[in-house]
Amino acid sequence: MKDNELVTWTQRYELGIPLIDQQHKQLVQLTNNLFLACLNGETTESFAQAVAEAVDYTKYHFNAEEKLLEQVRYPNIEAHKKEHRDFVNELAQAVQAFKDGKKFVPNNFARYLRDWILTHIAISDKIYADYIFNLKRQNLLQKAKRTAVATAGAFFARIHGYRHA
Ligand SMILES: [Fe+2]
Repeated sequence: MKDNELVTWTQRYELGIPLIDQQHKQLVQLTNNLFLACLNGETTESFAQAVAEAVDYTKYHFNAEEKLLEQVRYPNIEAHKKEHRDFVNELAQAVQAFKDGKKFVPNNFARYLRDWILTHIAISDKIYADYIFNLKRQNLLQKAKRTAVATAGAFFARIHGYRHA
């Protein structure tokens, strides 16, 4: 890990879903930007901007993820959405505290963001990724079965001289 990084992206954080991995990578990048802004001075404009960017992108990413989960009819979608919602609420409270100049430790905020994101990816996101891969496998299996039936049908049609409707 570099001195100016709070977290270094590695392949083991990847779920194997390119769009989501790309967004998670970006989230990690924004967390590092936040950390860097802490090092540079916690009361600066750049820190406030880094907070806003991290929060905005988190919301954007959650939205994209939830759309994907709807598309694949993920059975635990409501629980997953709630995790997102709770986190967004916590972020909003922390940001408000920061704006009001109340109990807010920038470094802790950056670390909290990092810990939450990495834990969420490793546990909750991993579960939906497994579900999606399972779904893909089943679809491929069904496709293979359909192809096998069609091939057998064509074969019997050839040897018996008729066609299935
Ligand atoms: Fe998620």
